[in-house]
Amino acid sequence: MKKMISFVLNGDKMEVEVETHWSLLHLLRERLELTGTKSGCERGECGACTVLVDGKAVNSCLFPVMEIEGARVTTIEGLGRSSGELHPLQQAFVDHGAVQCGFCTPGMIMAAKALLDENPHPNEEEIRHGIAGNICRCTGYVQIVRAISAASESSGQVPEVGGEGD
Ligand code: FES
Ligand code: FES
Repeated sequence: MKKMISFVLNGDKMEVEVETHWSLLHLLRERLELTGTKSGCERGECGACTVLVDGKAVNSCLFPVMEIEGARVTTIEGLGRSSGELHPLQQAFVDHGAVQCGFCTPGMIMAAKALLDENPHPNEEEIRHGIAGNICRCTGYVQIVRAISAASESSGQVPEVGGEGD
């Protein structure tokens, strides 16, 4: 069944027609062509599809699209600055060698964003806990943890551009 939903995507108000059985991941990738969010297991196990809904990290593959009505959704495309600069978390992942194939990276960064928004200075254990739902098959987790830690130290409150200042 088709329905119109309205929500805020990366700071922009959107109204879009969806099939009510779609996942949020399907809407983002297949309908809106925001392919930064990755499709991995589609079973809630790998974290590749992580986005923020009202500031909380969710697995978009399992998130029913109808539940974003009136919500604020942020994807990896909503980070970074309009000037083209990388978001501090993105820069930290580059600087610390936390990206190899990059498949897990958008989901990792969104999980880290949710963590730092809630806890701007997490310790290592808190960082590992924050990304526990995200699987990386390439880098090991040491570089990723270092990158998140560096981003938290460099900027404290990590800004979101295109969002509404959460
Ligand atoms: S694709 Fe959503 S958790 Fe793996
Ligand atoms: S960088 Fe390849 S899966 Fe994480």
